[in-house]
Amino acid sequence: MKLGTPLSPSAIKVMLLGAGELGKEVIIALQRLGVEVIAVDRYPNAPGQQVAHRAHVINMADPQALRALVEQEKPQLIVPEIEAIATDELVAIEREGLATVIPTARAAQLTMNREGIRRLAAEELGLPTSPYAFASSLAEMRAAIENGIGYPCVVKPVMSSSGKGQSKVDGPEAVEAAWNYAASGSRVDAGRVIVEGFVNFDYEITQLTVRARGANGEIETHFCEPIGHVQVHGDYVESWQPQPMSPLALARSRDMAEKVTGSLGGLGIFGVELFIKGDEVWFSEVSPRPHDTGLVTLATQRLSEFELHARAILGLPVDVSLRRPGASAVIYGGMEAAGIAFEGVEEALQVPESDVRLFGKPESFTRRRMGVAVANADTVEEARARAKLAASKVKPVAG
Ligand SMILES: Nc1ncnc2c1ncn2[C@@H]1O[C@H](COP(=O)(O)OP(=O)(O)OP(=O)(O)O)[C@@H](O)[C@H]1O
Ligand SMILES: [Mg+2]
Repeated sequence: MKLGTPLSPSAIKVMLLGAGELGKEVIIALQRLGVEVIAVDRYPNAPGQQVAHRAHVINMADPQALRALVEQEKPQLIVPEIEAIATDELVAIEREGLATVIPTARAAQLTMNREGIRRLAAEELGLPTSPYAFASSLAEMRAAIENGIGYPCVVKPVMSSSGKGQSKVDGPEAVEAAWNYAASGSRVDAGRVIVEGFVNFDYEITQLTVRARGANGEIETHFCEPIGHVQVHGDYVESWQPQPMSPLALARSRDMAEKVTGSLGGLGIFGVELFIKGDEVWFSEVSPRPHDTGLVTLATQRLSEFELHARAILGLPVDVSLRRPGASAVIYGGMEAAGIAFEGVEEALQVPESDVRLFGKPESFTRRRMGVAVANADTVEEARARAKLAASKVKPVAG
């Protein structure tokens, strides 16, 4: 493996499909290794486009547009950062040898649809999951709940992320509203949902798992320290590392993470989402890419999840060691406006061992993630308090 000079014939070219805050950090890590980076998003001036060599705005769900751009830019690697991509076209692009898709085109295809990854994990790999059923109509969904899944349950569009269209159903009277809500929040196929039995977990984790080449050239699997997090309406608000776990729960988590990432294959980082109750572990889902709760690793690990991803996809060795306990807390837009500003960053950075990232998103929404505060401390408890305090000091204001 040779690393070249960007903007010259020796360049290694990487195309990010999706250039939000997670992609931005991956791009920065790649830039530091002299990689030429092309950032693609559906809107101009996306965070990652601001730090890339070139930027393109296309509808990534459009197969023709995606192929045309790949043929124009000729990247060696294609790195999906979001789920809503024409993944069938990625499979064709990979098959024809036009580019390598990270981690694999099949992984992107399976994880963009909850049905693909759930059937793989539960039915092929035999991992424990919540009880589940799929439905394509309100009547079918009601029958699935009443004849098996029961109450409470969680209804989600098969194609959605960040909790969109997702709701908890406590009884028969709430079924129709959940169906309608799922239809409104779905990305592509408005007509299909997964219904999951509600798992009454003690806590949930992201097990960051890296597949990277070892000294002998073989792909090895590495596990970061578990990340604990809090979700509100299916969206992460706070995370910390390390999450204390029983040795058995940790071993089971890593066993499941190894199985599912091994099956998806390829090189790179994965965020394996797991629910934990005592020593019991349920697989929930997996992102074949850096995970939003892993923003905490900007503060906690020797190499952040973004640096780990950059290294792994280039075939370089990784080091997943934790440096110091830490936490992250999300900074929301709190308003609907373009070109907003942030006050209070100086107060935020008065908090010991804190840091702030502002993503530079051109447009703010009330619940849009516009930045994150991270902090370290001797303990996770103190780090959480520091990160939340720092985040609370940052005040979005009209630009
Ligand atoms: N079956 C379940 N039982 C209990 N809680 C659940 C269940 N499914 C989801 N949740 C809760 O909702 C959160 C979001 O669910 P899930 O990860 O499936 O949605 P998502 O839209 O893919 O979210 P994201 O994209 O942010 O990961 C979970 O992290 C968990 O807190
Ligand atoms: Mg999730």
